[in-house]
Amino acid sequence: MSPANPSTSSPRVAQRGSLFEPVQLGPITLPNRIAMAPLTRCRALADGTPGPMIVEHYTQRASAGLIISEGVNISRSARGYDLTPGLYTDLQVEAWRRVTQAVHACGGHIFPQLWHVGRVSHPDLQPGGALPVAPSAIQAEGTTSYTPSGFKPCPTPRALATDEIRTIVADYGRAARRALDAGFDGVEIHAANGYLLEQFLRERTNRRTDRYGGSLEDRARLLLEVAEAVAAVCGAGRTGIRLSPVSPVNASEPDRDPLNTYRYVVERLNALGLGYIHIIEGVTQGPRDVPGGFDYAALRNAFRGCYIANNGYDWHLAIEACEEGRADMVAFGRLFIANPDLVERLRLNAPLNEPDPASYFGGGEAGYNDYPRLVPHPAPR
Ligand SMILES: Cc1cc2nc3c(=O)[nH]c(=O)nc-3n(C[C@H](O)[C@H](O)[C@H](O)COP(=O)(O)O)c2cc1C
Repeated sequence: MSPANPSTSSPRVAQRGSLFEPVQLGPITLPNRIAMAPLTRCRALADGTPGPMIVEHYTQRASAGLIISEGVNISRSARGYDLTPGLYTDLQVEAWRRVTQAVHACGGHIFPQLWHVGRVSHPDLQPGGALPVAPSAIQAEGTTSYTPSGFKPCPTPRALATDEIRTIVADYGRAARRALDAGFDGVEIHAANGYLLEQFLRERTNRRTDRYGGSLEDRARLLLEVAEAVAAVCGAGRTGIRLSPVSPVNASEPDRDPLNTYRYVVERLNALGLGYIHIIEGVTQGPRDVPGGFDYAALRNAFRGCYIANNGYDWHLAIEACEEGRADMVAFGRLFIANPDLVERLRLNAPLNEPDPASYFGGGEAGYNDYPRLVPHPAPR
């Protein structure tokens, strides 16, 4: 395969099978095809360390084939929500080690989702009260940042200078190094939902005239440099990336030809040999169908690693997607909030608990670690 012309590489090998059967993700064999989707819950300590409550939360959900953690900030200036965890201090690494050890003790696997929010932030969260940064000085209208004094509108950000971008790529690489030091099995890069990497990728939020803006190749450059930097640290097979090709959340208007944009990205990711793409199909937490549609099969067929499907999946859709070969794995978000034993419940097609949106963000154990289980938790705890 020539990296200069990745689209000519051999087609992917579909891992058609049952949702409950093992699947190969890069070098890792996962016991089932059920992933826990990344879920920000704003329950970390003020210094960005995950405390005992978070250890308990992920331990409860360790029967997932793969846990993808909540968004984890790569640096202090990557933050857009108070009480979200980070991977930029030694203390954070120590704290995450307790999470990974507990998950591994239950036979689970866990990746952190590396996150930079870009313009979806507020000076109250930024070092020195600075403006948040973005590809261009375009405000995310109608969006809010969760500051220590509550939700506040996101201001017009400051456009990054070209030489600052190198620092951000390095921050991703360092956070990936810290993730391995903390015992994570790999890393997911958050390039979805209107945050920094998607702001660079999309035509409407990126008006740059340097090598990081303009053509599709230039808009995708930061995302690909980050993927390369993280893969260099973790190994490409242990690196995944989350994309939301048509989701408009966080004021992120999709491109006019999203399939063209994302097919290009995926073909370039092939050249790096990434382990998986994690695709939010439709509007995040909203309709799976959007006007004009989107050809997810084309994206899946263009990519040679695993395809993790997400958004609005239930028992029936998930089983069908795996058996018909439309996905290698399915990620569940809200169902994992409410069902720590989701894997066992899906296996039995048992009734599911309903999540309580009032306790999604912030607070304590209530609505976080107290959802009832059908079956006892596997030892050891
Ligand atoms: C409370 C909450 C927090 C979320 N946090 C994140 C996050 O940190 N990173 C991310 O990529 N998506 C996040 N999402 C989106 C979910 O990962 C998922 O895409 C969405 O819930 C749709 O999947 P579902 O229908 O299975 O819930 C969040 C969703 C919810 C409800």
